Amino acid sequence: MTVLSGKRILLIIGGGIAAYKSLDLIRRLKERGASVRGVLTKAGAEFVTPLSVSGLTGDKVYADLFSLTDEAEMGHIQLSRDADLLVVAPATADLMAKMAQGLASDLASTALLATDKPVLIAPAMNVRMWQHPATRRNRAQLEADGVLVVGPNDGAMACGEFGPGRMAEPMEIVAAIERALGEHRDLPPPAAVQQLSGPRPLAGRHVLVTSGPTHEPIDPVRYIANRSSGKQGHAIAAAAAEAGARVTLVSGPVTIADPDGVTVVQVETAREMLAAVEAALPADVAIFAAAVADWRVARSADEKIKKDGSGPPSLAMVENPDILATVAQHTEQRPGLVIGFAAETETVIDHARAKLARKRCDLIVANDVSPETGIMGGDRNTVHLVSPDSIETWPELPKTEVARRLIAAIAARVTR
Ligand code: CTP
Repeated sequence: MTVLSGKRILLIIGGGIAAYKSLDLIRRLKERGASVRGVLTKAGAEFVTPLSVSGLTGDKVYADLFSLTDEAEMGHIQLSRDADLLVVAPATADLMAKMAQGLASDLASTALLATDKPVLIAPAMNVRMWQHPATRRNRAQLEADGVLVVGPNDGAMACGEFGPGRMAEPMEIVAAIERALGEHRDLPPPAAVQQLSGPRPLAGRHVLVTSGPTHEPIDPVRYIANRSSGKQGHAIAAAAAEAGARVTLVSGPVTIADPDGVTVVQVETAREMLAAVEAALPADVAIFAAAVADWRVARSADEKIKKDGSGPPSLAMVENPDILATVAQHTEQRPGLVIGFAAETETVIDHARAKLARKRCDLIVANDVSPETGIMGGDRNTVHLVSPDSIETWPELPKTEVARRLIAAIAARVTR
């Protein structure tokens, strides 16, 4: 059972480039046991097809206010009330204006006006449209009317501009829906992301990030490695750059692209990573997302180790330097905020707490990397933010969204 089991969502899809994300939203809601009915505005149908929506909802798509069939089978009044929650995603500037004014000029606006159920909107529009006084007024009016709002997020936009206006990610909308339906009130507010709105919050700051695995050589052709893809660390570097920081990303060997607007230093071993990190100091914030090998082979062979009939070689190991602990305990160049990751497979929070104290960092982002979670190498993550005096648990989110929220949380601390 999930909070969404058996819940009925009326999803109104407006006309914006973000409409494609609403298709994923339908899937996420259905995975969690909700039933979804789709209303597509005329503009929305320019971005996603009725067939895609009905294919995913498993229901017909409602689009026409004056369709006799729709009215015979289900009128717009019933449509708007036969749901536990109305969700507008993407909520365009036009739809928000109609809602704020109480217009009923098409099926979507009519259903929104006729409903007696809570309404959640996920705005998505160009940054200037979002910041326009008219949209601000409409938003304030809608909030005063009790409409719930999730997002928009900050970032690069399809139109090439930067700023608030990107629709919240599907999993953020799912989390907001769960909250709106009155449960899971302990989930963090997606509004945390909105701290990124306005002027770039990390402008003028230097953020240092480690990412990816390290490779520890056994001989010139063999090495010890781990399954880290670098996706989370790279996403954090990208989010910090989006937030205006100067970013140095020290990365072990990965196959993913370098993030835009970031200085990347490529390394292989833990010792090289430590040297590159030290060279990049001073920094205002250091985030250690790399999966550093704890041990290396004491003496890696200069030539390829051959089978010589005397059995397998024994590899003596020595411990690698702990980069996070070293930087967190720097006397002169300790960054103001030092953040570590804890990749655990059991008793995640307890281990994270112990790591926080042992390494003397300010915050640990803890995640469960047991194989069944699919986190290692995957695109999604469920994390707990562990500080000396609090624990915050975030819902399962795309790694890019975890990165944005983490940067928003960091920005709130460094600008406090
Ligand atoms: N880390 C580091 N240098 C190392 C090992 C770890 O900087 N040599 C950092 C990682 O980047 C991460 C944090 O320390 O931010 C936690 O790493 P993890 O491997 O999970 O913890 P360990 O210190 O190895 O502790 P344990 O072996 O108990 O899991």
